[in-house]
Amino acid sequence: MEKTATYSKSDAKEECSVVDLSQISLRPISLSDLDDVLVWTSDEKVAKYCTWEPYTNKEDCIDFIQNIASKSLWFRAICLCNQAIGCIDFCLSSDRCRNKSAELGYAMSSKYWGKGIATLVVKQVVEAAFKEFPYLERLEAQVDVENMASQRVLEKAGFQREGVLRKYLFSKGKSRDMVMFSILSGEVQI
Ligand SMILES: CC(C)(COP(=O)(O)OP(=O)(O)OC[C@H]1O[C@@H](n2cnc3c(N)ncnc32)[C@H](O)[C@@H]1OP(=O)(O)O)[C@@H](O)C(=O)NCCC(=O)NCCS
Repeated sequence: MEKTATYSKSDAKEECSVVDLSQISLRPISLSDLDDVLVWTSDEKVAKYCTWEPYTNKEDCIDFIQNIASKSLWFRAICLCNQAIGCIDFCLSSDRCRNKSAELGYAMSSKYWGKGIATLVVKQVVEAAFKEFPYLERLEAQVDVENMASQRVLEKAGFQREGVLRKYLFSKGKSRDMVMFSILSGEVQI
């Protein structure tokens, strides 16, 4: 049986009440974003269900900014009024037999949770992925069973919940059950 979330919906609404979604944009990340990126990469709440530990110094954050984009097939900063409040990317599998499939990942400053921003950008990125990389047939996302907010984002963005991969990922000292979500190119109306 799946576990329940360990943070509440009200956590997401705590700081910033209204966001104008028309001010949300996606753009490449750069070192000029360092201070903004440090806000969410150092936040334990943001890192909780991710494989990385919260950053404790600027050097790790500089390394992230300089090298993350090259590890992804596609990477963008999520910006509010051009301020980098999160990131979203998708990567190809290293398995050649899975090269028509890419894995989606995203994270956002906890200050802006619960305002529909992730849902908006996931929808945009799905559309961009199948348009810019026509050979892709599938976008997938693996989400910790306890990460209810991320599961909800994917459902709202039209992903199908395929099932639970039991003890699929060993992260932060523990084997984790992961929910597999996917969307296929034919399922997106461009
Ligand atoms: C996952 C994440 C990107 C979601 O961002 P967001 O901008 O808050 O997402 P949205 O506002 O678009 O949607 C969140 C949805 O989850 C729901 N939600 C939030 N916490 C929840 C909880 N504990 N239980 C159930 N639903 C929850 C919200 O109510 C909302 O759904 P609704 O619109 O139907 O009310 C953000 O929480 C985050 O950055 N988390 C840390 C990093 C992470 O987990 N990344 C994903 C790894 S797979």
